[in-house]
Amino acid sequence: MKWKDQINGMQAYQPGKSIDEVKKEFGLDEIVKLASNENPFGCSPKVHEFIAKESINFALYPDGYATDMRAAVAKHLGVSGDELIFGNGSDEIISIISRALLHPGVNTVMGNPTFSQYALNARIEGAEIREVPLNDGNHNLDAMLKAIDENTAVVWVCSPNNPTGVVIEDLRLKAFLDQVPKNVLVVLDEAYFEYVTNDNHKDTISYIHDYSNIIILRTFSKAYGLAAFRVGYGVANKDIIAKMDPVRGPFNNTVLSQAVIQVALQDQEYIEKCRVENTKGKKQFEIYCDEHGLHYYPTDTNFILIEVKADSDVVFKKLMQRGFIIRSGNALGTPGYIRITIGTQAQNEGLLTQLTAILEEEGVIV
Ligand SMILES: Cc1ncc(COP(=O)(O)O)c(C=O)c1O
Repeated sequence: MKWKDQINGMQAYQPGKSIDEVKKEFGLDEIVKLASNENPFGCSPKVHEFIAKESINFALYPDGYATDMRAAVAKHLGVSGDELIFGNGSDEIISIISRALLHPGVNTVMGNPTFSQYALNARIEGAEIREVPLNDGNHNLDAMLKAIDENTAVVWVCSPNNPTGVVIEDLRLKAFLDQVPKNVLVVLDEAYFEYVTNDNHKDTISYIHDYSNIIILRTFSKAYGLAAFRVGYGVANKDIIAKMDPVRGPFNNTVLSQAVIQVALQDQEYIEKCRVENTKGKKQFEIYCDEHGLHYYPTDTNFILIEVKADSDVVFKKLMQRGFIIRSGNALGTPGYIRITIGTQAQNEGLLTQLTAILEEEGVIV
């Protein structure tokens, strides 16, 4: 068959081991998963109440325009409905952008390391990938500008960046946006926006009116605690949205997802509570790292990338044997580090106790 050349030899996404697999393999009763930056507190209780009483006709397709969810998100952000595109997770928006703009002969610029889906989608579309090394965990925006040429179609800016957690402050971001050629789409991926506490980073939604070539991505999978529902969205001027929309699957958000998002949006108190808890959790890790002389990046997300001064895979495996699933930096382009999703205070304490024992075994902590 005539597969795209670039697909030959590609591996399917390797999800980490499931909680059940780890339980069975290591004979454990309880597993704490702090690997995928989900909200450890789950979603708003209002969503559970809603689902318990809602009855849905499963025979009908969803509203393909997601009219009510669109209106609710538009109101929440202060934009108009035609400035939004919804995806089955922001993962799908990334693939829509790639399908619409990338092909052999164009290039795309991104940080390294950053969220893996940008490069994966670019590879599938056959575009040249220009990866610009981070500068101390942050995007090197000057070098990214230099990497842009007349064949650049898309620049990916992940802020805060996954896996380092570092946010780009407004002044730097604006200076960058001022210089990107207007025929290059800048994707500002803000999957962790709700967790940002840096005073030098404010809401970026108004940028869609200041810059004709930007799309901002956000998701309900992280702070909203709704990863299972797979809803992410892009915010951009209506011309960009109109170009992208034909590439979107016609019924890409389920009936239940569309309903649940509207409920979750109404409970902003819950998001605030989670942000406060997350900030406390971050402190637990920061204090631990400071005490033990382990480097970490200042994170504006619900995860933290910390140095282990040992083989990341060894630490990852030993934590798994002790009931904690995290991500090894070897899988994220940051060897010598591990990425931990900030959990509840008790989960964080439990993990740090086990980490201490492991780092003692490895001779890192004496
Ligand atoms: C930076 C970033 N962007 C996008 C996503 C995709 O999120 P979702 O498809 O669940 O909206 C993730 C998930 O981990 C992420 O870390």
